[in-house]
Amino acid sequence: MGERRPMIAGNWKMYKTGEEAKDTAKQLVELVKEVKNTDIMIAPAFTSLASVFQAVKGSNVALGAQNLFWETQGAYTGEISPMMVKDAGCTHVILGHSERRQYFSETDESVNKKIKAAIENNLIPVFCVGETEAQRDSKETFSVLDKQIQIGLKGFSVKSLERLVVAYEPVWAIGTGKTATREQAQEVHAFIRNLLEKMFGLDLSDGIRILYGGSVKPENISELMALKDVDGALVGGASLTARTFADIVTFK
Ligand code: 13P
Repeated sequence: MGERRPMIAGNWKMYKTGEEAKDTAKQLVELVKEVKNTDIMIAPAFTSLASVFQAVKGSNVALGAQNLFWETQGAYTGEISPMMVKDAGCTHVILGHSERRQYFSETDESVNKKIKAAIENNLIPVFCVGETEAQRDSKETFSVLDKQIQIGLKGFSVKSLERLVVAYEPVWAIGTGKTATREQAQEVHAFIRNLLEKMFGLDLSDGIRILYGGSVKPENISELMALKDVDGALVGGASLTARTFADIVTFK
């Protein structure tokens, strides 16, 4: 099995002003400066990217955006291009988050275009997938994930996906305090890795990082990270406080 470098990412969603975000980022940089074996990324709101970049540049904390639009430029009021995201200092971008799918009409097809635009612009996409509670209850988990991944990653070469990160976030576990059980998380992560193998071959599927997201906390990170196919976490609420997020990054 390939060695996969762990990754812990913080999704700050629609929280924090520029100053607050910069302060948290500064504290985090200090707390995790000795960490060498884990990729660390934080994704503040667009309006805080520039200020947070000042706090993280030159450190081991990478900067990510929470979305982008696929066009290069043009009359698209309210949208942000891949180049703008890069210009603000980002190396990563979260795409297809369930909140964007749920509240902002993102589809598998639009997520596919966004992933393509991110890769073309040398940004690392953190591609989010996950089923709702109703879908899990009606035993549609695997068919939903199959569709999200088949369409989301349609038309890519193996080479272009080398740096892709996938995040499995069961919608029913986001912000609810309900974490997937070990069995549930491992089962889905293994399913995703198998599907990636079928689509792109073993070399890619073996190397790709699959993060778990949904009520990750310092208290449950080690049992999640112990699972064979869990390579990291995408953290919402618990990433907003530097100390708590650092405790997740440096879990024992
Ligand atoms: P919580 O960690 O707050 O459940 O959020 C998870 C998430 O949506 C990260 O993208």
